[in-house]
Amino acid sequence: MTRKLLVTSALPYANGSIHLGHLVEYIQTDIWVRFQKMQGHTVHYVCADDTHGTPIMLRAEKEGITPEALIEKVHAEHSQDFAEFLVQFDNYYSTNSEENRQLSGNIYRALKANGKIATKTIEQYFDPVKNMFLPDRFIKGECPKCHAKDQYGDNCEVCGTTYSPTELINPFSAVSGATPVRKETEHYFFKLSECADFLRDWTRSGTLQAEAANKMSEWVGEVGENKLSDWDISRDAPYFGFEIPDAPGKYFYVWLDAPIGYMASFKNLASKAGLDFDEYWKNDSTTELYHFIGKDILYFHALFWPATLEYSGHRTPTQVFAHGFLTVNGEKMSKSRGTFITARSYLEHVKNPEYLRYYYAAKLNGSMEDIDLNLEDFVARVNSDLVGKYINIASRTAGFIHKFFNGRVSEPLLLGTFDNDPIKRPGLVIWQIKKESAVISRHFEARNFSQAIVSIMKLADIANAYIAEKAPWVLAKNLNDKADEFALRQICSESLEIFRLLSIYLKPILPSLVKSVESFLNIEPLMWADIDKPLTQEHLIKEYSHMITRIEGKQVEAMVEANKENLQAATPAKAEPKVEAKAETKAAEEGDYISIDDFTKVDLRIAKILSAEHVEGAEKLLKLLLDIGEEKPRQVFAGIKSAYDPATLVGRLTVMVANLAPRKMKFGMSEGMVLAASDERGGPYILSPDSGAQAGMRVK
Ligand code: 2FM
Ligand code: ZN
Repeated sequence: MTRKLLVTSALPYANGSIHLGHLVEYIQTDIWVRFQKMQGHTVHYVCADDTHGTPIMLRAEKEGITPEALIEKVHAEHSQDFAEFLVQFDNYYSTNSEENRQLSGNIYRALKANGKIATKTIEQYFDPVKNMFLPDRFIKGECPKCHAKDQYGDNCEVCGTTYSPTELINPFSAVSGATPVRKETEHYFFKLSECADFLRDWTRSGTLQAEAANKMSEWVGEVGENKLSDWDISRDAPYFGFEIPDAPGKYFYVWLDAPIGYMASFKNLASKAGLDFDEYWKNDSTTELYHFIGKDILYFHALFWPATLEYSGHRTPTQVFAHGFLTVNGEKMSKSRGTFITARSYLEHVKNPEYLRYYYAAKLNGSMEDIDLNLEDFVARVNSDLVGKYINIASRTAGFIHKFFNGRVSEPLLLGTFDNDPIKRPGLVIWQIKKESAVISRHFEARNFSQAIVSIMKLADIANAYIAEKAPWVLAKNLNDKADEFALRQICSESLEIFRLLSIYLKPILPSLVKSVESFLNIEPLMWADIDKPLTQEHLIKEYSHMITRIEGKQVEAMVEANKENLQAATPAKAEPKVEAKAETKAAEEGDYISIDDFTKVDLRIAKILSAEHVEGAEKLLKLLLDIGEEKPRQVFAGIKSAYDPATLVGRLTVMVANLAPRKMKFGMSEGMVLAASDERGGPYILSPDSGAQAGMRVK
């Protein structure tokens, strides 16, 4: 049965670069879409830039350009990044489009006609200098709980407390620095509180992953609980967005028109490609609608969005698929560690986007768990699976077909004497590989790409063992008679057919590599159904040339280094950009200075060296145990072996960074860093405090 699917990924904000965290979702969706297209289904994959809201308006102002110019520039960058990562949208549009303006207006009118819109006067913080109401993120002040300075209006980054901006001590506007005043304003609300019955059913009807459904059920509450509040969908001018019909000076909140951007992007595609828009969006649509999102925006996609659609006379999503966050080397992406890596920087250093596509696929399982990009494992995995297992099948055998058999495989491919030994029986491995197709396609369908890869690589192992057993390279050296020739041609032909089958399975993940395979085997673009169409003598196999190279660890190291240097250039993904008010922070952003706040983040301590010893196998390191007044001494590996005899260090005082994230090294955990001076004149020289300093004292 041919299905009609409309698939989306979340719309990235138009004020920051695409980074490896974003790419988890786009790669996940793209693999799924490509898999569905290979099944022969009709699939439209649409996305757009999410262009409205205060952060984008202020960012444009800061850059001295119009919001339109900013979003146009970012649209070009995003489109380029996605294209290079082989994320193949059928349309990549913008929420600042005429289609979106119309659809947002119409949906709002329908909600209003349905009695679902209300107005209410609320009190909000207002910046008297900028003459604008301030979103919570643009108000800063002292945390009411731990008294940390310079915290955002919604939560404290130091102690983690959430609060409302009115609770901040000494609040100031992050835009102008002015003290905000409370001011009344009329806002428009979507009466979500009246949608609880619908949402209770919708969230429990198989539209969400179990863990997401549980969470949403909690938010919706049981019958009679009234847990849902009405949703504030308006913002006052100045605001970059769409003005609300018949409400001058009032604009749709960005999250109202963003998901409608999915529709608008499809509408734009429909008009270009002659598709029937209503067929996909009318309330009795038989097409399927899937949204891929991060778990942080479930609330918008599993509550606001289906309710908006339902009460404006549209169909609701078939399923919403949420994924977890990306960690790098087991930790949150970090600019200081160089693991906040932009798509561009990856492309510049590692180059091949399919390595990352493969690695993410190997980690994704359709759940909301976070996935980890372990950079060492990334290099090892890609080299071992793609180069060592998959490509190896062709690279070891293709040359013989070309050299001895004019590029033609034996035919029929499975011809040969049947042997009772299964490993020697021609055709058996091919049969085993074909047999797995149903299992592998089930894994793809369920977004369980990691299991699909486990299955595929198991098959590659079987194939490699089979080829090694037959050793065509040995046969090729002693071709004495027709029987030898037959055997050589047979194993090489089988290998190429195995390679073709594995290429079908890997194509959703590695579309570009498989394109080279198709060209090398001289075949039409592979579809899933081509499993049953083996290579024949009609296909003149081209001469084999290398299709993939190994990644070098140093490429990855260079990428991490480059991202450390790029501190100023990187922009956080899903978070709204931080707008700093204070002059000193502005200067820090310009790159010449750091603020005092930045400096005080570094916890420097006087440390007493309790022991120092050589580390077996480490050329430069000494292992130190350091007392910094804590219950347990810290273990630190310091690169000072060239300059110090360990025995002379014991008992000395020095200075260490105590709040550096612990790092797992080959030799054990390193729980901090000892400071030392060096340049071309010599070193390293560790520091010593003046007498009187005691272990554990803070250096500031
Ligand atoms: O969280 C985000 O990055 C939003 N820009 C996602 C929007 S998705 C959709 F609803 F538009
Ligand atoms: Zn706090």
